[in-house]
Amino acid sequence: MQSILVTGGLGYIGSITITELYKAIGKYYKIIILDNLSNSNIQVLDTITSIIGEKLDLYIVDIQNQTELKEVFKKYKETNPINYIIHFAALKAVGESVENPIKYYQNNVVGTLNLLNCAEEYKCQNFLFSSSATVYAPGEFVDEEAPFKPSNPYGETKVVIEYLIRSLSKKGGRYLCLRYFNPVGATKDGKLGEMPNKPNNLFPYIEQVAIGNLQQLYVFGNDYNTHDGTGIRDYIHILDLAEAHVVALQELIKRDEKKENYYDYFNIGTGKGFSVLDIVNEYSKLVPIKYQITDKRAGDVAILVANPNKTKEKLGWVAKRGLTEMCQDSYNFIKSKQ
Ligand code: NAD
Ligand code: UFG
Repeated sequence: MQSILVTGGLGYIGSITITELYKAIGKYYKIIILDNLSNSNIQVLDTITSIIGEKLDLYIVDIQNQTELKEVFKKYKETNPINYIIHFAALKAVGESVENPIKYYQNNVVGTLNLLNCAEEYKCQNFLFSSSATVYAPGEFVDEEAPFKPSNPYGETKVVIEYLIRSLSKKGGRYLCLRYFNPVGATKDGKLGEMPNKPNNLFPYIEQVAIGNLQQLYVFGNDYNTHDGTGIRDYIHILDLAEAHVVALQELIKRDEKKENYYDYFNIGTGKGFSVLDIVNEYSKLVPIKYQITDKRAGDVAILVANPNKTKEKLGWVAKRGLTEMCQDSYNFIKSKQ
């Protein structure tokens, strides 16, 4: 049996993707988790175990540590060689990346270099990378050929890694970059969702207001050029995003079995934009969300929405879940954590 290595597999997107991946192909592949716990908790492994009914192998390893990383590849070489990598591990706080660019380049770029180095040494040539909509300039219905124009060091690290992957792909192998828009929500059972130490993003912040831990939401600016003046984003349900990974990995598997070289990059979004106040209104159908308009947040853009057509045409994937479900699942999750 071959293995799939999931870096950052205890994080928000990684953990939920693992449960979906296990349901889809867990019978045929061994799933190995690697995480340094810098933004996650070891208890997430127990939650994954309770959902899938099997305890997966976990390595508490930092991808910046090449020696330890190699040990993991070596360990499985003879029995369950790592033939696929889904690479989620990264730091992702935009503001912190502005404060400390070296930390972000070190963790994200150097860490990915190490990982790709090990992959090359152990002849693993199937790589699925978590990129981000933040590689683009703001816009509506942005397609994959839009030029890279990141507005912060976090986004720059994603661009640098995408360039590296593009260059590597020319030597052969199979590489996919998925550019996520704004993932939100949680699993239906409320067991897995996003639990940041300090909420920065909109949904985690609203969740804290919803359960009364915070008094009100601060809406960052209401004079953008949008229908109500607040920022518009393409929110995507985390289960849709997890399913996109299953589809993308299956594409890599198909191409690997045929020994075809492959390199592509896809937007993972819904193609629909919602403003901050649209979200507040929808969430308030479940529980009142008090808010106050405040200054714009540095580095924010008015609008960033995906054109999802290429992903639909070439991968056959479309997001199925709407805003109501995103809010319901988010609220259900945070209530169950109280
Ligand atoms: P997350 O912080 O919940 O998960 C990332 C995981 O990686 C964490 O468990 C963390 O402990 C681990 N990690 C970080 N650095 C590591 C290192 N050096 N070695 C080993 N493990 C390390 O974040 P997430 O929201 O699940 O994001 C997953 C990926 O998706 C990231 O690459 C992120 O940049 C990307 N992404 C996220 C969003 C979003 O809004 N959540 C949007 C676009 C792209
Ligand atoms: N917002 C508020 N108040 C808050 C938090 C956010 O009004 O307390 C607004 C923002 O101004 C923005 C919208 O809600 O208009 C969404 O903001 P988020 O912080 O939730 O998300 P961003 O679009 O800023 O960025 C997120 C991730 C990035 C990722 C990007 C991809 O943080 O890592 O989506 O589009 F790259």
